[in-house]
Amino acid sequence: MKITFKLNGENTAIEASPWKRLIDILRDDFGLKGTKGGCGRIHFDLCLVIINGKTVNSCLVPLFQLENAEVITVEGIGLIKDFPDINLIVKEVLHNKLTYRSGDIIIAVKGLFLEKNIPGEDDIIDALSGIACIGIDYQSIMDGIKRLANMKGRRRRAYIY
Ligand code: FES
Repeated sequence: MKITFKLNGENTAIEASPWKRLIDILRDDFGLKGTKGGCGRIHFDLCLVIINGKTVNSCLVPLFQLENAEVITVEGIGLIKDFPDINLIVKEVLHNKLTYRSGDIIIAVKGLFLEKNIPGEDDIIDALSGIACIGIDYQSIMDGIKRLANMKGRRRRAYIY
């Protein structure tokens, strides 16, 4: 099956089994190793990507669902110019400390603000669900996201590119 879609801002096409998972397509066919599938292994790296403005697990998306979709991976996250920018997320949410889960958290926060202009507590919990790691201080991450949500003067409408 041949599918065309946009990947990190570039029009692209791939021919493969309609059931091939997006995570495998990204890693094997496009060499985008930033998306990781850690389930069942010692690490719990997530496979989050943004598809059409929503955060999804790329291991759950078969190729046939991608026709004309816009996919953003961690490698392309800088293409989403709208609030909050990556520097702001790193400063306010990650407190300038990068860990091996930072990519997941950045994608989760970008996806959250694409979907909700002013996310509430439940939205934030939803966005962080699945990012499980004993090394993460969830309260400080939630506090950082709330600070972002309360910032004045930011643009209200999310856009991509
Ligand atoms: S690989 Fe574990 S949720 Fe996708």
